[in-house]
Amino acid sequence: MNVPPVKRHHILAVDDDSMNRMMLDAILSTDYDFTAAASGPEALALLTEPAKPAIDLILLDINMPEMNGFEVLTALQQAPQTIGIPVIMLTGDLDQETEVRGIQAGAFDFVHKPFIPTLILRRIERTLELKALQHHMQQEIDRQTALAQAQLASTQRLFREMIETLADTIDAKDTYTHGHSHRVAEYAQEIARRAGKTAEYQRDVYYMAQLHDIGKIGIPSSLINKNGKLTEEEYAAIQQHTVIGGDILAHVAEMPELAEASRSHHERYDGTGYPDGLAGTEIPEKIRIIAVADSYDAMTSKRSYRDILPQAIVRQEMEKARGTQLDPEFDDIMLQMIDEDTNYELQEGRP
Ligand SMILES: [Fe+2]
Repeated sequence: MNVPPVKRHHILAVDDDSMNRMMLDAILSTDYDFTAAASGPEALALLTEPAKPAIDLILLDINMPEMNGFEVLTALQQAPQTIGIPVIMLTGDLDQETEVRGIQAGAFDFVHKPFIPTLILRRIERTLELKALQHHMQQEIDRQTALAQAQLASTQRLFREMIETLADTIDAKDTYTHGHSHRVAEYAQEIARRAGKTAEYQRDVYYMAQLHDIGKIGIPSSLINKNGKLTEEEYAAIQQHTVIGGDILAHVAEMPELAEASRSHHERYDGTGYPDGLAGTEIPEKIRIIAVADSYDAMTSKRSYRDILPQAIVRQEMEKARGTQLDPEFDDIMLQMIDEDTNYELQEGRP
């Protein structure tokens, strides 16, 4: 059976003393591929040339003419091709300050001269083991990170799909507001975007708007789809969809804003809305945005008692609601969107 050859590690020694280079060659050649350089510049040239050998570890002398070991180390750490190669410094003196300086500069270890073969081999072996371990750890971290990211993306996708499914369920109940939740969500997200809100904020607004009418599930269909005028009791019953929606979504502890949006989307800026009579900034900002989108879509979609209103009328009504029913800042953004919508595409049944 053919056993594939084990890849030998390649060691580069940088030392201006030819005796040292020869000694290192003698010590290391049995176990490693070995290359020697007589100076820092020679080593750096070798490491960056196009046909550079794949060096796994560098033995670096400190006292050298031209460039000393620290200067070479700094250069190695600045080049992307060499930054990851572990460096063991070779030092003649037992100066602790030099060692501290070397470790701070990024050296992996130290070997003192004169060389003791067993010791130097052991240091190299240990450094290579540590480096391999580091490499495997990094690979594992990368793998786990990618896995976590994929899982997060999948969970977020599931969340979005579940919300859209629920929104479809709501819209299916109301014959005359088909696609209402989706359109309100899109308009509200666009208002938030134009108001300079973050992507996260826009996404929250989108989800909140998708589910704002979920309480309609608790209202009899006959009432929701009734042709003709509602009695006072019937109107009061329909208004209950805000409270019912808030109660249903109170179960989503992870995103309390969903319940708030459902409960408060019929509050009015002037405080005359329902169910709590909140006014101005008492109504959370995202819900003030949704209220604008909701009013707009109510006028630009078919109702049991009327067709889609002409754009000029819609504009007039949105203008009238400014500061009374709706927050002027976000109503202004909607008015701007209406003015830009010269083909009147922002309505039910249009793209
Ligand atoms: Fe509603």
